[in-house]
Amino acid sequence: MEIIVLPDTDAVARTAADVLEEQVRSGPSVLGLATGSTPLGTYRELIDRHRRNGLSFADAQAFLLDEYVGLAASHPASYHSVIRNEFTDSVDFAPGAVHGLDGSTKDPEAEAARYDRSIAAAGGVDVQILGIGTDGHVGFNEPMSSLASRTRIKTLTRQTRQDNARFFDHPDDVPEHVLTQGLGTIRDARHLLLLGLGEAKADAVAAAVEGPVAAVCPASALQLHPHVTVLLDTAAASKLAHTEYYQYTFGRKPAWQRF
Ligand code: PGA
Repeated sequence: MEIIVLPDTDAVARTAADVLEEQVRSGPSVLGLATGSTPLGTYRELIDRHRRNGLSFADAQAFLLDEYVGLAASHPASYHSVIRNEFTDSVDFAPGAVHGLDGSTKDPEAEAARYDRSIAAAGGVDVQILGIGTDGHVGFNEPMSSLASRTRIKTLTRQTRQDNARFFDHPDDVPEHVLTQGLGTIRDARHLLLLGLGEAKADAVAAAVEGPVAAVCPASALQLHPHVTVLLDTAAASKLAHTEYYQYTFGRKPAWQRF
């Protein structure tokens, strides 16, 4: 893992946007997009670069990480709607290039299998953006998720439903079930970009990065991946034991070496 501690959320957003811009400019790309609050600054930065510098997503495809079961794509809190509002409708993805799970499906198992097949058919994900939950989840892989899991239905913890209640009119409206890419699915992406912002994430970040690989902290499964970049603000990094080493290493990153 390359762990980079940056001064603030804007620096995290700019650095994450740099990684995605380099990928998109390199040729037709498959991006893995996350929803939630954490990547919003990154998306705003990419929209700005699209408008100011002509950064184009016309040759890119995107796959969402997860979706609530029971919400139609048109529901304002569905991740289909959220990603369109926060990012993809403001740039130039081709029609049909942004893919998500169908939360209104009557057959979640078939929908999950279809989704894994469609990611594979697109050639796999080049760069996957990830946030981290306060309980260490990535995607909606809650604690004790199989480290080898594929896309499937999961039950949200009470904590995650509370954390996400701000996106709904009433806390009880947060669905109990979700479809999520599995930890094995996520680890198939060629480059994982984990973003952590704010003190509320500090314990989960420390467990994911410096703790043992264990299903109790699903994000720790990323330690098994050969190309992971972790971008943290100082608050999210505040419980790490080895920050001085991460900063020493980043300060000596060879000029030729990319993220
Ligand atoms: P957040 O959620 O970005 O809204 O904090 C992250 C997550 O739950 O994965």
